[in-house]
Amino acid sequence: MTAFPRGRSRKWPVAVLGATGAVGQMFVRLLENHPWFELTELAASERSAGKKYGEVTRWLEGEPPARAVASRRVIACDPGVVSAPIVFSALDAAVAGEVEMAFARAGKFVLSNAKNFRMEPDVPLVIPEVNGDHLALIECQRRNRGFDGAIITNANCSATVAAVALAPLHQRFQIRQLFLSTMQAVSGAGYPGVPSLDIIGNVIPYIAEEEPKLEREMLKLLGTYSDDEVSHAPFKVSAHTNRVPVEHGHTICMSIGFETTPTPEEAIETMRTWEGLASTSGLPSRPLRPLVVTDAPDRPQPKRDVNAGGGMTVTVGRVRRDAVLDLRMVALGHNTVRGAAGGSVLNAELLAATGAFDTA
Ligand SMILES: NC(=O)c1ccc[n+]([C@@H]2O[C@H](COP(=O)([O-])OP(=O)(O)OC[C@H]3O[C@@H](n4cnc5c(N)ncnc54)[C@H](OP(=O)(O)O)[C@@H]3O)[C@@H](O)[C@H]2O)c1
Repeated sequence: MTAFPRGRSRKWPVAVLGATGAVGQMFVRLLENHPWFELTELAASERSAGKKYGEVTRWLEGEPPARAVASRRVIACDPGVVSAPIVFSALDAAVAGEVEMAFARAGKFVLSNAKNFRMEPDVPLVIPEVNGDHLALIECQRRNRGFDGAIITNANCSATVAAVALAPLHQRFQIRQLFLSTMQAVSGAGYPGVPSLDIIGNVIPYIAEEEPKLEREMLKLLGTYSDDEVSHAPFKVSAHTNRVPVEHGHTICMSIGFETTPTPEEAIETMRTWEGLASTSGLPSRPLRPLVVTDAPDRPQPKRDVNAGGGMTVTVGRVRRDAVLDLRMVALGHNTVRGAAGGSVLNAELLAATGAFDTA
């Protein structure tokens, strides 16, 4: 078991909002035996509140949760009802704005997966290994909004996968232009998500609101923090997003132009030696390697690589020269683990390790 940080001797109680959905279920799975966090409350809509979690949740895959979790009563997403000081939100965007703000106003830490607050200038949008230092925005958020709580967001699942792959290259060679085209898994649309007759044997070249999200979030993730502000990365991004008949794992083909052009070998060496921010080493959910580069000519593939590093590792392959920009490559990552629940849990671990939860 990973030792508690900062002399702590017991687990922090945590709740999941939207616990019945696709991302909520992944939270339950990742938190069931977490070394630092104790999952004490499960919250969802009024449709589910008051009923047993196991009865209202259509468990999507793997072993259903232990009896102690399955028999727990679902409660309402109301800060007056949820007692945990730390809440993970897997809420639908239609309700996340109002609900998450109410929890932050009530003094709670809200680790959100929804799009609502990601681009607010005083809200951190974080991948710990890439830009964990952006968590410093919390102080500015509290001053601006006059509350003791905090909203911390993780990015759109495709933006997360792309940003992990690109962070070391941008740090060393400065991206000038980025073109990307995604092949996104159906689990990214939640449950029941895309109707089976629309997606089996098909590709849908449209995901509502996905392209602008991917384009703008990428620039905030790869931006730099200084003096209560994140300056967004200055390069141009063009994204095409597609839904494909894959269960889990978003695959992204990218062409990249740089200010200083690396050879494919230099780019591979830069990604292979990248460790991510040192402050993340030793966190329970941090994979040994956040980013791996495969030499296989036909990888990464969702079927073979999506669970690398417990779903927290992004796999890159096919790094080669590009006749239009400088380099091209393919990246793959798990959308509900690294791109959602696992990313949020890692954000919370970094907050715990740096003392943000000491009074929680
Ligand atoms: N799936 C992914 O790969 C992915 C990746 C990154 C981010 N996200 C984001 O994560 C969030 C959850 O996505 P998902 O795929 O898990 O969606 P989902 O399967 O549709 O689950 C939605 C959850 O929100 C709850 N909910 C709906 N209306 C509510 C209300 N009025 N009050 C309280 N709770 C309510 C639902 O509870 P009931 O069961 O009681 O209705 C359910 O627990 C979304 O904002 C999504 O954009 C998803």
